[in-house]
Parts: sequence; structure tokens; C-alpha cells
Amino acid sequence: MNKKLYLLLIISGLHILLIVKIIYNMASGAEAQTPAAGEENVLEWAAKDKRRFLHAVYRVGDLDRTIKFYTECLGMQLLRKRDIPEEKYSNAFLGFGPEESHFAVELTYNYGVDKYDIGTGFGHFAIASEDVYKLVENIRAKGGNITREPGPVKGGETVIAFVKDPDGYIFELIQRGPTPEPLCQVMLRVGDLDRAIKFYEKACGMKLLRKKDVPDYKYTIAMLGYDDEDKTTVLELTYNYGVTEYTKGNAYAQVAISTEDVYKSAAVVDLVTKELGGKITRQPGPIPGINTKITSFLDPDGWKVVLVDNADFLKELEKK
Ligand SMILES: *[C@@H]1O[C@H](CO)[C@@H](O)[C@H](O)[C@H]1NC(C)=O
Repeated sequence: MNKKLYLLLIISGLHILLIVKIIYNMASGAEAQTPAAGEENVLEWAAKDKRRFLHAVYRVGDLDRTIKFYTECLGMQLLRKRDIPEEKYSNAFLGFGPEESHFAVELTYNYGVDKYDIGTGFGHFAIASEDVYKLVENIRAKGGNITREPGPVKGGETVIAFVKDPDGYIFELIQRGPTPEPLCQVMLRVGDLDRAIKFYEKACGMKLLRKKDVPDYKYTIAMLGYDDEDKTTVLELTYNYGVTEYTKGNAYAQVAISTEDVYKSAAVVDLVTKELGGKITRQPGPIPGINTKITSFLDPDGWKVVLVDNADFLKELEKK
């Protein structure tokens, strides 16, 4: 055989081997990607879903006392009330606008229980006001307890104050311009901020709106939500350097978030808990008697979240 031809054959042979190898790699690569791509599709739902914060649920020792404080001191409206004597509890919903479009607090009073332990993990709720000084004056005049006098935040310009409600829940008052949603934050402390951010992004489809590290005071905060923090309610997560565990007490219960499909949403949560921790505590489905479809779960720090079918929720409101 001609030496040149022989060489050419070897080179062609090597090329063929190379091409076969490339094709093989592509094929096996695609194979390896299939489950991941499936996961991507499941995870996408959380970001596509129409979500908003519906309410925060917590227990109080005297419903009328809290209603009086929230309406007269904080400027909330009493939106609805229900008494379930067969289960020995009552609820009151308060907020700054109709529940169809606004965030609310859902207070639970359990017959005969007048005191709860708030624990160390729960932080505060926040109310935006155009004049925090005036609001504080009003709260003080009506016998409310101010735990931090109004004034600019350390190292900033925003005027804030802190007040305590009759059960000891803290409300931060934040001065800002007119907003459609004055009930603007739920603050919870977490032991691993990056894990918590990832969880709420992936499992709940929230956006990380802002993250701020304050090394002088050894904490980092993250704002997560579905829209601008000046326009809607957001979840504020606080990480205090070196603190990984908090007590939960038995007072604060959960936040509820709307979803268009509890089943798809639960599938996302289930997948994310396998990666980041937390667990589904109630499989998706209708609540017996009420028929509103919900699913609930714990985040990796043990904070409870309930996803509520939006159409069912609106039906519930019509019945009130
Ligand atoms: C303020 O604090 C005092 C002392 O703890 C308490 O007795 C009182 O009920 C509080 N007032 C309100 C409105 O929470």
C-alpha cells in the first residue's frame, strides 16, 4: 500500500473514532440531563404560579383586647370574625384593606388560653406609616407600649419605631410614602440565611428583593417576596451571626400564601425539601368541611407555610 494512503486511512480512522466519541458523549450527556430537566419543569411552576401573601396566623390570649389595640392604636380594620364553638376557638381577621387584595393578620383565640410563649425565633410584623412620630404618639396616648422610640435607623435615614401588642408581639413601624399595603413585613429569624433564601426562592417562587449585611451589629437580613417591598408584604429573614437555633414557642403559627394549584405546588415543595430540608406536614387536598384546598410544610428552620388554593379562598371570603 502507498505510504501516503496508509497515513490518510489512519487519520480518517481517528476522525471517525473522535466523531463517534463526541456523539456518544452528547447522547449520554442528554441522558444524564433528563431527570434534571424534569426537575426544572417542576421547579418552574413555583415561579409561574400566581402568588401573594394572604395572612399571618397567630394566637392571642384575648381577642377583643387585640382587636381594640389593632384598630384603635395601629389603624387596622376588623375584616371578619368567626367562632367555632365545637372546636373551642375563634378567629378574627384584621388588616388595612379587603382580604381579596390585602394581607391580613388572622388571630386565633383558643377558649380558656390567655397566654402564649412567643419564643426567640419570631421577629415582628411591620406597618408602614407616613408619619411614625404621630402614630407612636397615638399609640402611647391609648396606653400602648413603645419599645423603641421613633427615630432614624442606626446608620440610615428611614424612621422606625417598635411597639409591643398586648400579647407581646412586636410591630415595627416604618416611615414611608403612601403604600397600597401598610401591613408590609413578617420577620422571622433563621439559622442559615443562604439555605433559607434558596428554599423560599425554589419552594415558594419568591424573589430575593434585597439582602443586607450589617457586620457592625453582626446580622444579615434578606427580603423575599412576590413584588416590590414598598407595595406588597414581604418576608424578612434575619440571620444573627453564629446563632443557628431559636425557640419557636407556641404563639406564632404560620403565613399563608395563595396558589393556583396546591398539587403542583406541593410537588415543588417536596422536591426542594429533599435538597434543602424542611418537610410537607399536610399533603395537598381539601380541608374536610370547608373544602378549601391547601398544603402545608415546614421550611428548613421549622417555620410553617400554608399554600391555599386561590379560587377556594375567594369562595370562602364570599361566604363570610
Ligand atoms: C403595656 O405593658 C404593661 C406592662 O407589661 C401591660 O400591663 C399593658 O397591658 C401593656 N399595654 C398594652 C396596650 O399592651
